[in-house]
Amino acid sequence: MIRLRHETPREWVALVERELVAFLQDHAANEQRVSRAALTLAIQHPERETLVRELVDVSIEELEHFRQVLGLLEARGAGLGRDHPDPYMRTLMKQIATPDREEWLLRRLVLFAIVERRGYERFALLGEHLADAQLAAHYRELARSEARHQALYLRLARQYFDGARVEPLLDRYLDLEAEAMRAQPLAPALH
Ligand SMILES: [Fe+2]
Ligand SMILES: [Fe+2]
Repeated sequence: MIRLRHETPREWVALVERELVAFLQDHAANEQRVSRAALTLAIQHPERETLVRELVDVSIEELEHFRQVLGLLEARGAGLGRDHPDPYMRTLMKQIATPDREEWLLRRLVLFAIVERRGYERFALLGEHLADAQLAAHYRELARSEARHQALYLRLARQYFDGARVEPLLDRYLDLEAEAMRAQPLAPALH
């Protein structure tokens, strides 16, 4: 498992509990975004068969997460919120932009591995500390899935690109990600 360089403080869980519907709406928005991002990567690289197959599966799984979170919202008498942009993700995507198609693939694979790792960290925190036992169990389950996605993105990066390119990027992006996370005010949001 990748080691993140900024740890989410425990107070974050209390914020989520206090504004659970807002958090679930943000979580739902994130699930549909990562589903679309995985599908986009797949269709932009049709020549890479393993990548296509695995990322189509990831995209479906993220969409299933989206549906599950929608169910959690409906159970609380709520629905989806407005899909406003995620500043953390926007900052990171801007920092890794490049016109080179292959380099762009490599960079997104490495970044997405780290973002999935962040999802794992935060879902695991909820799984451990939420007072609502059923919701906590749900987040433990989601955490397992994000851990798998983290490993998958990293495996794809290492399969298609030289380790000499992957490892320094991973190191650099872990710093970028920690910085982007630290820059976010602590909020009832996934990032
Ligand atoms: Fe997910
Ligand atoms: Fe994921």
